[in-house]
Amino acid sequence: MAVNTRLTRLLGIEHPIIQAGMSWASSNAALPAAVSNAGGLGVIAAGPMRLADLARTLEEIRELTPYPFAVNVPLYRAGAAEVLDLLEHARVPVIIASQGSPKPHLARFKAVGSLWLHVVAFTEHAHKAAAAGVDGLVVVGCEAGGHPPANEVSTLVNVRKVLRELNCPVVAGGGVADGHGIAALLALGADAVQLGTRFLLSDEARLHPEYKRLVLQAGIADTVLIGRHTLPVRSVRNPFTEQVLAAERQGLPATDPAAYEALLASATLKLAAFDGDVAGGKVEAGQCAGLIEHIQPAAQIMAELTKELGQALERLRNLQR
Ligand SMILES: Cc1cc2nc3c(=O)[nH]c(=O)nc-3n(C[C@H](O)[C@H](O)[C@H](O)COP(=O)(O)O)c2cc1C
Repeated sequence: MAVNTRLTRLLGIEHPIIQAGMSWASSNAALPAAVSNAGGLGVIAAGPMRLADLARTLEEIRELTPYPFAVNVPLYRAGAAEVLDLLEHARVPVIIASQGSPKPHLARFKAVGSLWLHVVAFTEHAHKAAAAGVDGLVVVGCEAGGHPPANEVSTLVNVRKVLRELNCPVVAGGGVADGHGIAALLALGADAVQLGTRFLLSDEARLHPEYKRLVLQAGIADTVLIGRHTLPVRSVRNPFTEQVLAAERQGLPATDPAAYEALLASATLKLAAFDGDVAGGKVEAGQCAGLIEHIQPAAQIMAELTKELGQALERLRNLQR
């Protein structure tokens, strides 16, 4: 069953399903290619990649799939300018940018035919990005893995607020692990839905097995938000998150902002994702980790998602008298 929305038409995809860009996990060609081949939109996470690796990955994904794919670029990172130059030159079908302004970049990407979706966690940022002329917004709520909004507003409320105020295609994300969640956000008015944590638990996600094991074991209440006072991160509870929460209870960052920054920077996603230190690193994942029961090939995940989406839409139709 194909679903026809503004974004499936614009992006040229069969299903309104996007595999969210995830540093390390989707910093490869295998995961995004499998999702694009199954009719969704696969996303390469450029964040932690060296320029030469990204260039090679772009060649690889073009060999693996004839379908559209996207590259996620966190604009605040050192080296983002070089990454954007490479992506412009490579004429990638879709850019999904986060944490920064789209305005200085849109004209040159439009000129080479790339679409630009912009990730926002706040309504004010959604207004700014839409006014700059982006092709669509990616709106995430507090349930999300990675960097959810600091104000802790949920996906249901955040997405609805943006849809009420703006007539711009919206990808909704945060908290969705199955086709029922996708149907819920389409019912809310979204044009597509992005899933991170579900695809994190795929065979193709490039993560240390210990990372996947911890996320798979997590229940729906086993993730916490740390770093609320700077850039919040949702991670599976572990000794590192306990240390941060204890420091926050003792008054950081008010008493010593520098010590707080240093504590948060003392552990990284790489430490957990690449080195497998899941006690000392940041095991980023969303609340919906608690809804996921298996690690599967991405194609199988796509097959389950589309089947459940069809069932959920059918159920909604049957509710009508
Ligand atoms: C391990 C991990 C790494 C992430 N890395 C990025 C990233 O590099 N850039 C980005 O824009 N979002 C990143 N995110 C956020 C996702 O793109 C997405 O918004 C989020 O996973 C959606 O929520 P969900 O996990 O509940 O599906 C990351 C999320 C996770 C779980």
